[in-house]
Amino acid sequence: MLELQGIKKKLGGQAVLRGVNLKVAPAEKVVVIGRSGSGKSVMLRLIMGLLRPEAGAVCFEGTRLTGLNEEAWNPYRRKIGMLFQGSALFDSLSVFDNLAFPLREDGEKSVKVLREKVEEALKIVSLSGTEQVMPAELSGGMKKRAALARAIIRKPDLMLYDEPTTGLDPIVADSINRLILHLGKMFGMASIVVTHDMTSARKVGDRIAYLHEGKIYFEGTPAEVDQCEDPLVRDFVRGHAEGTDVTG
Ligand SMILES: Nc1ncnc2c1ncn2[C@@H]1O[C@H](COP(=O)(O)OP(=O)(O)OP(=O)(O)O)[C@@H](O)[C@H]1O
Ligand SMILES: [Mg+2]
Repeated sequence: MLELQGIKKKLGGQAVLRGVNLKVAPAEKVVVIGRSGSGKSVMLRLIMGLLRPEAGAVCFEGTRLTGLNEEAWNPYRRKIGMLFQGSALFDSLSVFDNLAFPLREDGEKSVKVLREKVEEALKIVSLSGTEQVMPAELSGGMKKRAALARAIIRKPDLMLYDEPTTGLDPIVADSINRLILHLGKMFGMASIVVTHDMTSARKVGDRIAYLHEGKIYFEGTPAEVDQCEDPLVRDFVRGHAEGTDVTG
């Protein structure tokens, strides 16, 4: 359903992505791991069409998106939900208005429909009844869940998660992992999860891809990644499992 074909992207004079190839099947959950600064967030922004590649293409549900103009992109963007690194809720809007935002953007005016959809999305993330709360009043874990509810309110075919568990305590992090799995099952949506957290990667990933020096250096099932003898992959996986990484 999603295919990245030889994606190259330079930023600030530096070749960040140097030919990324990645395929995601319908309902598949692919975890992307990699060092801080390796280009994981850039890769997600390219999939969302917030950045354009210099070479290569993003193909989604059989359409080559790269090369389409903004207007032609928009219907596809609606089918892709993204949970940004750091939530990105609108601080001046209540939870209700945050969640209703993408629906209003699509032209939905019926208060009844907005209420129903917001209520349903909040229920999925276990935040029922928080419609009138302001983001500043939510804990970090609740903010993530509210942002997640907003990201799924259009029932996307593909969800992109940028560091969904970073900065959360292990129990809350686990609840987010379970939510990612639950959403995948409930809506059959495909997911790309970018993370440093190997516990999370093993738990949610059907497949794990290691982004290194601008390319997918290794990909395999969680078991294959754990058994991989390649020193680079081993250091990354064990380093993180032992909590020795201090870069991000
Ligand atoms: N708008 C930009 N302008 C210039 N350089 C950028 C821009 N966005 C990202 N970069 C650079 O691209 C590289 C990859 O950044 P990116 O945010 O994708 O890393 P990441 O893998 O998501 O890291 P982290 O795990 O810390 O979130 C970094 O060197 C960063 O400085
Ligand atoms: Mg990032």
